[in-house]
Amino acid sequence: MNEKTQFTALQVMQDAPVIPVIVLNDAAHAVPMARAMLAGGIRMLEVTLRTPQALACIEAIAREVPEAVVGAGTVRSRADAQAAANAGARFAVSPGYTSAVGQACRDVGLALLPGVATAGEIMAAQEDGFTELKFFPALQAGGVAMLKAWGGPFFEIRFCPTGGISLQNAPDFLALSNVVCVGGSWLVPANVPELGDWGRVTRLANETRSLHK
Ligand code: 3PG
Repeated sequence: MNEKTQFTALQVMQDAPVIPVIVLNDAAHAVPMARAMLAGGIRMLEVTLRTPQALACIEAIAREVPEAVVGAGTVRSRADAQAAANAGARFAVSPGYTSAVGQACRDVGLALLPGVATAGEIMAAQEDGFTELKFFPALQAGGVAMLKAWGGPFFEIRFCPTGGISLQNAPDFLALSNVVCVGGSWLVPANVPELGDWGRVTRLANETRSLHK
């Protein structure tokens, strides 16, 4: 795909305490958003495939902001994985797990952080060789208590809880031994791209430096 460094899912998770979950409606917002995030100390950026412009956003960041590491979120199919890789994504995040998505990401050379919310999904992902997983939707599906319960049978699995996480509750999750980082959309509030308030993104990213794994 490109000669850039390849990252494993674990490396993506270990880069910072938070992986920002980013929704962009306009490709023109992608580069300023990525630069604002870098200025706040975050370079792993999950751009979700939820808008018509998402792939163009990934492409723009991959091309114009080489210090950032852009990934695709909301990868739900083989076609999503292929499109994400073609656009220059360097990792993928999925909301749930299927073997088809797992295999598709392997085929196109994308590190995958698969989403799980049940013990069965964890077992399916583990059977396919995935041991770094996103717990989604974390707060709604049992939060800290669920992660503690999973720590017994799934002692070798490391999680990135996402869904309902904020700067305020992130420390509770990061304190768990089976949590490497958290994910969250709070770093790019819904109206920020339209307002062009990139300084706010940098401030919100900077705040996450108070979080520690
Ligand atoms: C995701 O897709 O990972 C979630 O929408 C992020 O959840 P949050 O908006 O509650 O941070």
